[in-house]
Amino acid sequence: MSKITKAVIPAAGLGTRFLPATKALPKEMLPVIDKPAIQYVVEEAVNAGLSHVLMITGRNKNALENHFDRAVELENLLQEKGDQHRLGVVDEATGLADIHYVRQGDPLGLGHAISKAETFVGKDAFAVLLGDDLIDPDSDLLTQMLRVAETENASVVALMEVAPEDVSKYGIVNPGALNGNVIEVKELVEKPSADLAPSNFAVIGRYVLQPGVFEVLRNLQPGVGGEFQLTDALNEMAKNPGLAGPVIGFVFDGRRFDTGDRLSYLKTIVELATERGDLGADFSTWLKIFTEKL
Ligand code: UTP
Repeated sequence: MSKITKAVIPAAGLGTRFLPATKALPKEMLPVIDKPAIQYVVEEAVNAGLSHVLMITGRNKNALENHFDRAVELENLLQEKGDQHRLGVVDEATGLADIHYVRQGDPLGLGHAISKAETFVGKDAFAVLLGDDLIDPDSDLLTQMLRVAETENASVVALMEVAPEDVSKYGIVNPGALNGNVIEVKELVEKPSADLAPSNFAVIGRYVLQPGVFEVLRNLQPGVGGEFQLTDALNEMAKNPGLAGPVIGFVFDGRRFDTGDRLSYLKTIVELATERGDLGADFSTWLKIFTEKL
C-alpha cells in the first residue's frame, strides 16, 4: 500500500461547552499558553509526514484561515522593529503545511464532517486528527498508527483506557485479541452507559481511515444526539470487514490533552506551562506557593 500523506482535521463543531468564548471563535483557536490548540494538531500531522491537510470548518472559519495565512502588516511591523524572534513565531504557522479548507455546512456530527473530505481524499487512506485533542508532542502515536494502517490495509483508531464513570463520554470498543499495542476491534459503541460499555477502551481523537469509509458514511443513519457518528460508521466497518477493510485499535499509553473540555483545558495549560523552557521555572515556583494556599 502506498504511503499515507493526507490529514483531515475537523474543526466545525459548535464548541458549546466553551460558550461564550466560542460564540465568535472556533474552540480550536483557544490558546494553549501562546499557541492555538489547532496549531499543535497541524504540527503533529506534519511531524508524521502528512503535509497535505484539509480542515473542515464551520461558521467563524476566518480566524482559522487567517492563523495559517500570512499577516503581512504584522510581519512588516516586526521586521521594522528588528524583532526576529516574534517574526519567526508569527511565520511558523504560515509555512507549516499545504492547508485546504472545506465548509461542513450544518454541524451534523463528526461522521458528517468527515464525509466532506471525500473530494480531497480521493482513493487514498488518510488520517483524522480532532482539532481540539492534543497528543504529547514527544509521542510518535500517529506515525505508529500510519504504519499499522499501511501494513494491514486497515482503519486504525487510537484507544486509551478510561475510568468507568467516563465511558459515556466516548466511543468505546469491544476488543478482541491484544498483541503489543495493537488490538482487534469487533464492535464500537458511541457513548454507552457504564453498565452497557463493552470495555473501558475509549476512542480518542486520532484515526487512520480507509477510503471505503465514505460509502459507509453515505448510508449512515443519525445516531446518539441525532448526529451522524463516525463511531457508528466504524462499527459497521468492524462488523463487516468486506466493506472497507478491518478496524484495528492502537492502544496509546502516553499523554493526551482534551482542550474541548473546560477542566481538561485548564489542566493542559498548567501541565504544559510547567514544562516550557521560557516559563516553566517561574510558573512552577508560583504554582507551588499557590497550591499551598488552597
Ligand atoms: P466535539 O463533540 O468535541 O465538538 O467534536 P463540539 O460538538 O463542538 O463540542 P461541544 O460538546 O459543543 O462543546 C470533536 C471534534 O469534531 C469536530 C469538532 O470541531 C471537534 O474538533 N466536529 C464535531 C465537527 O467538525 N463537526 C461536527 O458536526 C461535530
